[in-house]
Amino acid sequence: MNTVYLDSAAGDDLRRERLYAGQLFVFSPRESSLALTEHARTMIEKAFGDIDPRKAQYEMPVERYVEICAPLKPAFIHNDRTKELVRGVIEDFGCDLEDIYQDVPRLRMVTSDGYLTSGVGYAHHPHRDTWYAAPMAQLNWWLPIYDIETENSMAFHPKYWDTPVKNGSAEFNYYEWNSVGRASAAKQIKADTRKQPKPEEPMELDPQVRCVVPAGGIVLFSAAQMHSTVPNTAGIARYSIDFRTVSRSDLENGRSAPNIDSEPRGTSLRDFVRCSDRTQLPDEVIAEYDDEAAAAEGTLVYQPAGT
Ligand SMILES: [Fe+2]
Repeated sequence: MNTVYLDSAAGDDLRRERLYAGQLFVFSPRESSLALTEHARTMIEKAFGDIDPRKAQYEMPVERYVEICAPLKPAFIHNDRTKELVRGVIEDFGCDLEDIYQDVPRLRMVTSDGYLTSGVGYAHHPHRDTWYAAPMAQLNWWLPIYDIETENSMAFHPKYWDTPVKNGSAEFNYYEWNSVGRASAAKQIKADTRKQPKPEEPMELDPQVRCVVPAGGIVLFSAAQMHSTVPNTAGIARYSIDFRTVSRSDLENGRSAPNIDSEPRGTSLRDFVRCSDRTQLPDEVIAEYDDEAAAAEGTLVYQPAGT
């Protein structure tokens, strides 16, 4: 049974417990979240100049679209104002800034009608983030930057909250992904050839749940949720922000969503910094979730070229 909580007033401890049990939390836009999405919107609109970013695909070849979006992503991620605004959202939602660690926010674009579905505009197949070495205690925060419709939203597949799926996560090494997969995103224009953990058996994607929130609204969910990018048929591109949080006390006490089918190697925990002072998690906490042999085959933390 999945429940969608709307504008819940629950405190963060109870909210995390509910999220680890598979519930979804949806929030209306508020000042802190609008400040973040409006900041992103300004950066996007500046990059596209006179062209409406939602309709840019009708104005330019896909290679040009990628040329504009590829640098926009790291520019947004590494922008100081972006980091501040993400922290502002976390604080506004009543999280303990000493206990909650955040990663960098991602900016995503999903164009319409198959214009670009790979690389920087990757349309995510059904997956759990935990297949990609996210900790089971990870929570995902997702915000559309412009209003969306069901045709360009994101889908959850609730059947799989407690139904395991045969999948390729056992072959996924997070550190190898850091050294090879992430760096080549901008080169994947016609097709995405990067090795990613995928379902390895037919899936029942319906019934599915899509949360259509206004720009600056938030969908908050466990990284163990099965979710996918809806193939965009809205005629306009969707731009969204997502970032992730973990609670250190939950990591230390083994509180998380249940793991029913995730077997990746390595952990993304080194990507998180404490909201209060931007320090990393202590080594002994990371060690509990790590895999030394996997570390020898790649890069612990992704370093984008030129930053
Ligand atoms: Fe995801």
